[in-house]
Amino acid sequence: MSSEGETIGIIGAGWVGLVTAACFADLGHRVIVRDILPERIELLRAGKVPIYEPGLPELLERNKERLSYTLELTELTDEADFLFICVGTPPTYSGDADLSGVWAVVDELPPLERRLVVIMKSTVPAGTGEKVRSALEARGLGYLGYASSPEFLAEGRAIEDFVHPDRIVVGSFDPADGKRVGALYAGIDAPIVYCDVASAEMIKLASNAFLATRISFINEIANVCEVTGADVEQVAKGMGLDRRIGPHFLHAGIGYGGSCFPKDVTALKQLAGNSGYHFQLLSSVIEVNELQKRRVIGKLEKHLGALAGKTVAVLGLTFKPDTNDMREAASIVLGSRLLAEGAEVRAWDPLADRDSYLRGARICDSVLEAVTGADAAVIVTEWKELRELASEKVHSAMRNPLIIDGRNLLDPDQVRVAGFAYDCVGRPGRSSTASGQAKTSGPQAE
Ligand code: UDX
Repeated sequence: MSSEGETIGIIGAGWVGLVTAACFADLGHRVIVRDILPERIELLRAGKVPIYEPGLPELLERNKERLSYTLELTELTDEADFLFICVGTPPTYSGDADLSGVWAVVDELPPLERRLVVIMKSTVPAGTGEKVRSALEARGLGYLGYASSPEFLAEGRAIEDFVHPDRIVVGSFDPADGKRVGALYAGIDAPIVYCDVASAEMIKLASNAFLATRISFINEIANVCEVTGADVEQVAKGMGLDRRIGPHFLHAGIGYGGSCFPKDVTALKQLAGNSGYHFQLLSSVIEVNELQKRRVIGKLEKHLGALAGKTVAVLGLTFKPDTNDMREAASIVLGSRLLAEGAEVRAWDPLADRDSYLRGARICDSVLEAVTGADAAVIVTEWKELRELASEKVHSAMRNPLIIDGRNLLDPDQVRVAGFAYDCVGRPGRSSTASGQAKTSGPQAE
């Protein structure tokens, strides 16, 4: 690698592509970003960023000397030695990953004088690399190198995850290509897992599926705590201190969402099914997660009875804080259930594109507007703005001061002192009635 770094092509200027481009440029490489959407390239050339990710605009600006944007794939194939495929692979109705964006790139690659390496960064089912290689050979491009280097970036902290990863994974057919790809990450202090292509593809899917499994597991533990009187927060703490278990992704709540976990869990289950293996565990992970999003309805009915005619504030629409992303968010399922029960839904979120939320829900500009006259407020996303929800102002604005905390965000004692009825996830002993009486834990409370 020369002192000027390598020349890297990024195909797909979406969330993965732009974060990858900015971080590689920041490592000193020259990066050419290609997208098929003219308006997206125009925006980027004008220094605007078409997606929301904290720190990304600044990083792109800081490295603009090393970054360029184009509609022309040939600009990349003429100048770059490495081509990262970062196109979207959304789920199809069958649960399979939609690879049409990947095949479009493979089909568009022109005959080349030079041998460059194509690297898959998009999340694809295990076995895709083999199919890409066959397709390249069929097109007389078999001399190109191919590698898989999946991303492990979480929304809201993607740059941090790229720069300080737990590991970098590089799968390749030719180990020499693998080493060249691994060298691109020079400057990042992390172990590199060099392996074959199919294993690299599986590491990505299996990692996300396992994290989702941890979440469904702790959510089921929370549900058992609710009928046995234990406190899931204490349980998770006690479990997490076991170094074989670890504390991460043991936060019980209203279920996982987002553009990755639901898609990757389903894609892995489907991939196994396509190969004749029934992945039972993942079937349960998915089912538990869907039920978890709906459990709040049961809690609301326990406090309010029939929900028809009641007003419920849905606080937080995104699948997690620090993103504007509502894909597979619990707020969508919960809101739909509430509307179906005949309740009025008042929705609030600081970042989400609220107009794309459920028709029939009233979109509010502030938390106070959402809870005014409400019979209950449900915390669906643990936005920091909601930490002070149990205030006097909110108490007097609500028709019935009831908070259902789907993220265990609040301090139950503080909520009780403020005179709210309170219910949460897996902490029965910490729920309270409006009179501030602690609800005794377990079934006898019913
Ligand atoms: C995830 C992975 O973390 C990342 O490595 C991968 O590359 C892409 O998918 P992301 O989808 O951005 O990232 O979100 P993440 O922070 O992992 O949260 C996923 C969902 O799980 C959210 O809905 C979150 O609220 C939920 N979650 C997370 C829990 O319910 N409990 C937890 O303990 C952790």
